Amino acid sequence: MKLLVTGGAGFIGSNFIHYLRRVHPEYDIVNLDKLTYAGNLENLKSLDQDPRYQFVKGDICDRDLVFDLVKDVDAIVHFAAETHVDRAILGAADFVKTNVLGTLNLLDAAKEFKKRFHHISTDEVFGALGPNDPPFNEHTPYNPKNPYSASKAAADHLVRSYIHTHKIAATISNCSNNYGPYQFPEKLIPLFISKLLNDERVPVYGDGQQIRDWIHVEDHARGVDLILHRGRLGETYCLGGNCEIPNLELIRGLIALMGKDETLIEYVKDRPGHDRRYAINFTKARNELSWEPRIKLEEGLQKTIDWYQKNQDWVDRCKSGEYQEYYVKNYSNK
Ligand code: NAD
Ligand code: TYD
Repeated sequence: MKLLVTGGAGFIGSNFIHYLRRVHPEYDIVNLDKLTYAGNLENLKSLDQDPRYQFVKGDICDRDLVFDLVKDVDAIVHFAAETHVDRAILGAADFVKTNVLGTLNLLDAAKEFKKRFHHISTDEVFGALGPNDPPFNEHTPYNPKNPYSASKAAADHLVRSYIHTHKIAATISNCSNNYGPYQFPEKLIPLFISKLLNDERVPVYGDGQQIRDWIHVEDHARGVDLILHRGRLGETYCLGGNCEIPNLELIRGLIALMGKDETLIEYVKDRPGHDRRYAINFTKARNELSWEPRIKLEEGLQKTIDWYQKNQDWVDRCKSGEYQEYYVKNYSNK
């Protein structure tokens, strides 16, 4: 099997490629990535000499390139996206370009060459839950509330429209918040670990009572692999961590695991339009694919802290240049 993975130099994409290498060593993998600020080839250094792995630096918005690559593979797993909500609030144009128009190119190529397509999406497309609402499932209506989730929702709708109209062989997964190694230090967990390692203060948005359903990235990768091989064509699968927790509780847990002091918590202005609660019901994936998350939060967090501690130079390199500028601009708004 020859797979095209888009966005394979990012957080989840690189973890997925490492997972594929372990479970399907015979697969050929082509990684198409633009190497935005979030893409990092260091994440895949161990594959440098692998004859069954090829990296292509390029943009999914480049239609000719996408068609060229898609025609020679058996399947596409599409991770590439602009992914950070705070950046989407500062400016949404790149989110629409990559997440919507880039996805459209991949869909057109999948249609043209009749290729299997798996689209990676997020639980954020469903909007925000109230405290007593049941978790999201595959039937929850879409109600995205920020420009990132709106762009992902648009992409999901396009995928479904191609399944319905053009009969492409596609599946979708909507997953909850991931954490683990190689996550760019702008999202909550890697940002806070890297700050706490340096005894810096951590910015908690609003009252810190927002709830997320955390899943270790390896559990997500295993779910995607199962859907790719055993998922029913045309179907959507929700993947979650079975792990709803308010941000503040998570942050206190991180601080305790790292032996730091809670005085490092700094309450800052809330994110505009901040979604209050996400949670996933993954009964369909459990029933059809025997999938469920295996890594418990405390174990996963400890492994993640250890990884960031060992890879502080990786974090420092992420923080240089463009990221630094973004952070100053964003954080100084508070
Ligand atoms: P990331 O920001 O770490 O990585 C995104 C990757 O896509 C980077 O390597 C970047 O260079 C690449 N990319 C961006 N624009 C591109 C373009 N135009 N052409 C080619 N490559 C491009 O993101 P992530 O957290 O790994 O997320 C991967 C996917 O999973 C996304 O589709 C995201 O919506 C989805 N998702 C993420 C989470 C999460 O918690 N991080 C949860 C659910 C779903
Ligand atoms: P994030 O990792 O950006 O993921 P998402 O917004 O996609 O869920 O944020 C996770 C939660 O943490 C979210 O409720 C926002 C909050 N948060 C903070 O309180 N401070 C921060 O500096 C960041 C980045 C996030």
